[in-house]
Amino acid sequence: MSAIVITGGKPLSGSVRVQGAKNSALPILAASVLNAGQSVVGNCPDLSDVDSSIRILRHLGCAAERAGDTVTVNASGMNRFDIPESLMREMRSSVVFLGAILSRAGEAVMSYPGGCDIGPRPIDLHLSALRQMGAEICEEGGFLRCKVKEFTGCGIHLPLPSVGATENIMLAAARARGTTRIFNAAREPEIADLQNYLNAAGGRVSGAGSSTIDVEGVPELRGTEHRVIPDRIVTATLLSAAAAAGGEVTLTDACPLDASAVISVLTDAGCEITARGTELRASRRGTLRAMGRVRTMPHPGFPTDAQALVMAAACRADGVTVFSEKIFQNRYQHAMELLRMGADIQIEGEVAVVRGVPKLYGARVCSTDLRGGAALAVAALAAEGETELSGLEHIDRGYEKFEAMLAALGADIKRV
Ligand code: UD1
Repeated sequence: MSAIVITGGKPLSGSVRVQGAKNSALPILAASVLNAGQSVVGNCPDLSDVDSSIRILRHLGCAAERAGDTVTVNASGMNRFDIPESLMREMRSSVVFLGAILSRAGEAVMSYPGGCDIGPRPIDLHLSALRQMGAEICEEGGFLRCKVKEFTGCGIHLPLPSVGATENIMLAAARARGTTRIFNAAREPEIADLQNYLNAAGGRVSGAGSSTIDVEGVPELRGTEHRVIPDRIVTATLLSAAAAAGGEVTLTDACPLDASAVISVLTDAGCEITARGTELRASRRGTLRAMGRVRTMPHPGFPTDAQALVMAAACRADGVTVFSEKIFQNRYQHAMELLRMGADIQIEGEVAVVRGVPKLYGARVCSTDLRGGAALAVAALAAEGETELSGLEHIDRGYEKFEAMLAALGADIKRV
């Protein structure tokens, strides 16, 4: 079993490029089955979750190849509509294939999706929306058997702005009869990226980024080229690392606007963060201050995916930071591992109270989920001595060349 060994305690310094966004690449790869042409998806990060999507596409009969950071999908040969359980369990995002496969093939068979263990992750909103659009869905023994003659546009009110459900509806609606209007849609930047891909393919989607999205169905989509947006959570990871360890880092190919909620919290804590175009410079020379209250919210609020990362920095800050996790029920598992490193954290339900300590110490810790694992690495960079971090399969789901990325900032890190 491999592990990452980090010797912490020294400030970071250097420049690194931010990878393309995992959470954009996955729905866009699913969307590529909506047309029978060729989709060329650039800035596609090299991750195990993207590999899982490629394997799903190949299973469906599509050609899917990676060359450098570009994944090319030719969906002309698609001849299946099922996804094997083993592939469904590899990641949560496999569920966005549902709307796309149903739209293209009129049928879909798959099991419930897997993914990080951060609390219950139901898909009731996805299924309810697809039913409202005309799908017949039979849920039996952990499997979904779905059919649709033709999706029909309608008004869909989401009780909460689910990212995945918004994406599934957009995929089902792109070639539906009539117009679909999504009320209380998710406003994450990845939704706008999916809209841009669909429109480049001949779709008629508008409103992404706001809470009302209109999708006017078109009879056909065509192959297209698209470049995935920068990953705002990887950006948050690197900024949190600079906040925790100190020093000065430069991030290139970033989207500062998409990371603004995290930038604002870290700036209040005493980091100096400046944006110029797609470049971000972050430094922390003095003491890191506690962050007051950090409450996770749907975008443009503070992202739940950055909670663990910023918490790792808060462990070393001067004062008390109170986190409220509003999106997922079980997203503090990393805190138990941070305690091994000397952190002072108390958890009561959705609230975590972090009292900054003068020193963290290297320890043997284990990733419990993707962002929680990265957060342990952030803490390790700020800790005295050596940390051995296992459970790397979680980190590899979302970070491309994780150690190389941190080594480019001068971190003493190696995979053993
Ligand atoms: C996406 C992101 C994930 C991020 C999350 C919230 C991808 C691949 N993943 O996940 O990194 O942490 O958004 O920003 O883009 N819910 C229901 N019923 C549903 C669907 C969701 O109750 O049918 C609830 C969930 O349990 C959760 C909340 O809605 O409490 C938000 O989930 P959602 O926005 O759907 O997250 P994902 O799309 O799974």
